[in-house]
Amino acid sequence: MGDPMKRVAILISGRGSNMVSLLEGMRAGEIDGKAVLVVSNRADALGLDKARSFGVPVKVIARGEAKGRESHDRAVVAALEDAGAEIVCLAGYMRILTPFFVERYHQRLINIHPSLLPSFPGLHAQEQACAYGARISGCTVHFVDAEVDHGPIIAQAAVPVLPDDDADALAARILEQEHRIYPRALADLCADRIRLEGRRVIIAGRPVSFPGSLCVC
Ligand code: GAR
Repeated sequence: MGDPMKRVAILISGRGSNMVSLLEGMRAGEIDGKAVLVVSNRADALGLDKARSFGVPVKVIARGEAKGRESHDRAVVAALEDAGAEIVCLAGYMRILTPFFVERYHQRLINIHPSLLPSFPGLHAQEQACAYGARISGCTVHFVDAEVDHGPIIAQAAVPVLPDDDADALAARILEQEHRIYPRALADLCADRIRLEGRRVIIAGRPVSFPGSLCVC
């Protein structure tokens, strides 16, 4: 019988708190996944030591080691394939992936973004939400496609933007929700509960929770 655990790789660039939430979910048995590799594009990413403390192999593939975006992605994909990764999670990985990478992991590549997409894609999403004057923001887990912060949405959580918020205060409130919804979305993917109808993500086999509406007025 094959291993029911999906082989999961996580890509980071920095602190790695979302990575930790995924690793904790796997360690606790809440996710039918086994972490096989953490890749960082930065040698100084704080998340690398956290990954090591979970006993997960880490690899740094930094800018400059490969010339050009696609050859960098080819180096990352080669490492992922060596590790036998079946699912790839971006967790604060601050590089735009080339179509080569995205196609290789079609519907097996997910990302967390700190806004309610399609609002505020791109960099500094929390700062964008504050500057725009949004009353509600949040976070989104989505499949990665060839456009930035665009693929089908798996999960979202909303938080208020309070009058005195700066980007850091809002980011902290959003981050709590990121740590809640990302492990859950990965659990759904690992358990094959996710199916796509066009852009719509259908999650089968568990009740979708709806704790109530969030209204800021
Ligand atoms: C998180 O807020 C994540 O949503 C964001 O970077 C942070 C990484 O924190 N990602 C993006 O903005 C991607 N566009 P972490 O390293 O502690 O998980």
